[in-house]
Amino acid sequence: MITKAPRGTADILPSGVYKWHYVEKITTETARIFGFSEIRTPVFEHTELFLRGVGDTTDVVQKEMYTFSDKGDRSITLRPEGTASAARAYLEHSLFASGGITKLFYNIACYRYEKPQAGRMREFHQFGAEVYGCQNPSCDAEVIAFVHTVLCNLGIKDIKLNINSIGCPKCRAEYSKALIEYLKGGYDSLCETCHNRLEKNPMRVLDCKCPSCKEVSKGAPSILEYICPECREHFESVQSYLTDMEIDFSIDPSIVRGLDYYTKTVFEFVSDSIGAQGTICGGGRYDNLIEELGGSPTPGIGFAMGIERIILVMEAQGVDIPKAPVPDIFIASIGQDSFVQKFTYELRKCGIHAECDHQGRSLKAQMKYANKSGARFVIAVGEDEVIKGIVKIKNMTDSFETELSLNANEIADYLGGNRE
Ligand code: HAM
Repeated sequence: MITKAPRGTADILPSGVYKWHYVEKITTETARIFGFSEIRTPVFEHTELFLRGVGDTTDVVQKEMYTFSDKGDRSITLRPEGTASAARAYLEHSLFASGGITKLFYNIACYRYEKPQAGRMREFHQFGAEVYGCQNPSCDAEVIAFVHTVLCNLGIKDIKLNINSIGCPKCRAEYSKALIEYLKGGYDSLCETCHNRLEKNPMRVLDCKCPSCKEVSKGAPSILEYICPECREHFESVQSYLTDMEIDFSIDPSIVRGLDYYTKTVFEFVSDSIGAQGTICGGGRYDNLIEELGGSPTPGIGFAMGIERIILVMEAQGVDIPKAPVPDIFIASIGQDSFVQKFTYELRKCGIHAECDHQGRSLKAQMKYANKSGARFVIAVGEDEVIKGIVKIKNMTDSFETELSLNANEIADYLGGNRE
């Protein structure tokens, strides 16, 4: 073997891919019910997009991006998240032109150069959604209800929803002054990156992953003491919508989120079933991002959930995930290989998942294989069956046998009628 997969990446093998299919099915179905349409954006973007969108003092931009120059000497970055790309596409294709609110969702791979551990990968997958053009707090509640419904539909239990408001640039100016004052008290314990952040963007110190910075941040003043009346009213309104919808939440003033675009409402869904990387979903409002990227002022709000973490939670909680479907029928050949090959093809054209032997195995070995594959029905075709045009079909669950014509349409009808 020449090499292993790069650190922090994982192959999704055929034996486990059914879990991914299931999560994709539920997320996509729930998105449809909530009125979201899918968007697919490129895996890489101009680096500039993330510097401007995500913010050049964030951990994601300063430490974690996969950035390289392409052959045309352009700086390119593998997307570390989906919000900036969706906003870029929203502007580039004037998705606002039809007026009203635009609701998008995506299922994407993202790339961050982080220290890998359970639930933290360098290549990971997100299901996310974004809403553009709505500043009403009811929209914040709708987006949170969307995540809540996805988690319920997946059968996940005991998830905590924590919400906070990080205000707008107006109230943040006051807060920043107080925060700088406080952080200066622990200046010597802050890392080099945070020394630079202190004046430029002190809130970023609060989500630095360095243990010593975390320690200093512990007693920091809370943004909630500084938010302006408009932001406070918005936040209270969001809470009241959530209460009306009977969605439980806690207010956690320590949530600041790791990306610069957020304003007002921020939220996280946390599980304690999977250890340290328990944040399975994060999101919030970003009313200035579209303008920051060159568009006219347009409010936005969204979230993204980590699919690896979702699957870890489902496994830890023993959620019953439907397995990949087994073959409908196995067609054993008793010296009739070319007939069986053609017959299998005919059944497949009728929409039946049919399998046959390609290795010249004995009838006994074929039956053993059929059993192992989990095939629901089996027929064995020899010269007699071909001449008479009649075959015995056996239900592998209860061993019940019946005779049918050796005709693809008739067998397909029979199997269709016997599907669980
Ligand atoms: P984020 O909090 O950076 O937000 O990521 C969202 C989720 O992606 C996390 O809660 C976590 O479940 C998952 N995640 C993040 N990093 C990793 C990793 N290295 N390995 C595995 N899973 C990971 C965003 O990305 C925002 N774009 C969310 C958003 C959308 N806000 C508004 N709209």
